[in-house]
This record gives sequence, C-alpha cells and structure tokens, in this order.
Amino acid sequence: MFTVKDFTETKKAGGRIVMLTCYDAPGARLLAESGVDAILVGDSAAMTVHGMASTIPATLELLEPHVRAVRAGAPDMFIVADMPFLSTRLSTEASVEIAGRFIRAGANAVKIEGASGHEDIIPRLTGSGIPAMGHLGLTPQSVNALGGYRAQGTDDESASRILADAKLLESLGCFSLVLECVPSSLGAEVTRSLSIPVIGIGAGPATDGQILVYHDMLGFTGGRVPRFVRKYADAAGMIKGAASSFADDVRSGLYPSEAECYGK
Ligand code: KIV
Repeated sequence: MFTVKDFTETKKAGGRIVMLTCYDAPGARLLAESGVDAILVGDSAAMTVHGMASTIPATLELLEPHVRAVRAGAPDMFIVADMPFLSTRLSTEASVEIAGRFIRAGANAVKIEGASGHEDIIPRLTGSGIPAMGHLGLTPQSVNALGGYRAQGTDDESASRILADAKLLESLGCFSLVLECVPSSLGAEVTRSLSIPVIGIGAGPATDGQILVYHDMLGFTGGRVPRFVRKYADAAGMIKGAASSFADDVRSGLYPSEAECYGK
C-alpha cells in the first residue's frame, strides 16, 4: 500500500503522485488495478453522486458509507476522507471524533479545507495517529465567501496568503497539501517552498502530483467542467448508448434471447 511515507519519498525522489476521487466499491476496485497511488473520498460526492449543488450539504452521515464502500472495493489502497463543511470548527473533541469515524470506516487520513482556525485540530489529529492533508486555493466549502468557483491567488496579496497558509499547514503537521485552481506560477512556488508534497488540481504542471474528480475525468459529469479537467473517457456517451441499445432490444423483442432465459 502507498503510505504517508511514500507521499514524502515520492516528492524527495522527484516523482509524481497520482490521485483520483472515488465514491463506490466497483470504482475503487478498478482504481486499485489502474496504477493510481491513492484515492480521495471527496465531499464532491455530494455533487457527483447525490446531485447536490455544492459540497456544503455533505455530512459525516453522507460520506461515511462512501468511505466504507471504497475501502471494500480497494482493501489495499491509501484512502483520504474529506472532513465535511464545519466539521473542523466544532470543539476539538467533536472534530477528532468525526475524523475517527472516517478512520474506523476505512480511511487512512483526512483532508481539511483552509488553514486559519485549524491550529489546534491538525496537531491534535496527527498526535492521535490520524494523518491530515491540507487543501488550499479554491476551497469549495467556502464557495459563498469566495463569491463563486473561481481561480484563487491571482493577485499578489492573495498569492502571499496562500503561500503563508501552505507553510502554516506544513508546520502544523500536514503530510501533504491539495492546491486547487491557482495560477501555475503559484503552484510552482508553493511546491518549491514546502517539503511536503503538493497535489495540484488546476494548479499547473509543477506540483508534486495531480488529482482529478473521477466523474469529471471519465466524462460522466453533465454540463460545464473546469478548464483543468481532461476527459479521459466518454462515460456519459457509453452509458446513454448502452441504455438506448437495451431499450431498442426490449422494444423490438431482441432481448432476452433464448440463451438469456432459464429452462425448466
Ligand atoms: O472533494 C473533492 O473532490 C476534492 C477534490 C477537488 C480535491 O476536494
């Protein structure tokens, strides 16, 4: 299994860490056979799987079964679970309990959006044996405060804040950092400035690794996707085509054939 140690070693060796999100057992089984290093059970499940408008409604109760399912499908993969909106703003004890539920469900680490206000919880988690991954740049749980899903760190002041936050997260004990939707130059600067690996999503080519949302990269997501998404498949076309063929076959009497029926 890829471990926290491998995150660090891969950066030191100049390699690239590959992550995808995943939310179910069959998908996780395929990812385990694909060469991807680690899986994020992202709160993006709220949007990709549950059809919600943002990640904000994702709760522990919504995400925990997805962590169990992914662990069932990928028994030997490193799994990170997203701490849901506001779950790190409760008492430290309550936040540790939520992280503990994810670890008991099969996660190896948790991911936390933002830096400021997490000075207590991150050392508490790492001191409790729960590795913490940071997440800066476009932090979707803060979409209301950010004024929409848009690139972050595009001016000097906000770029300096992201760099300072990244250093803070490293000093608090995060083992890695997701950096989302920032200029490539900032992605490179943050990556250069930290000794923990930076996993980019729309943060340019210089980061220590890349992560994409499973449904986006498979071409499953309807409507517009962010510019950093590369579609590696046309899952939507494949599923629609298969369902239409099934409908045609049923209506024309071609399905089921004799071989697809039981005798006495
Ligand atoms: O929830 C998620 O899918 C994420 C990725 C965008 C990194 O946090």
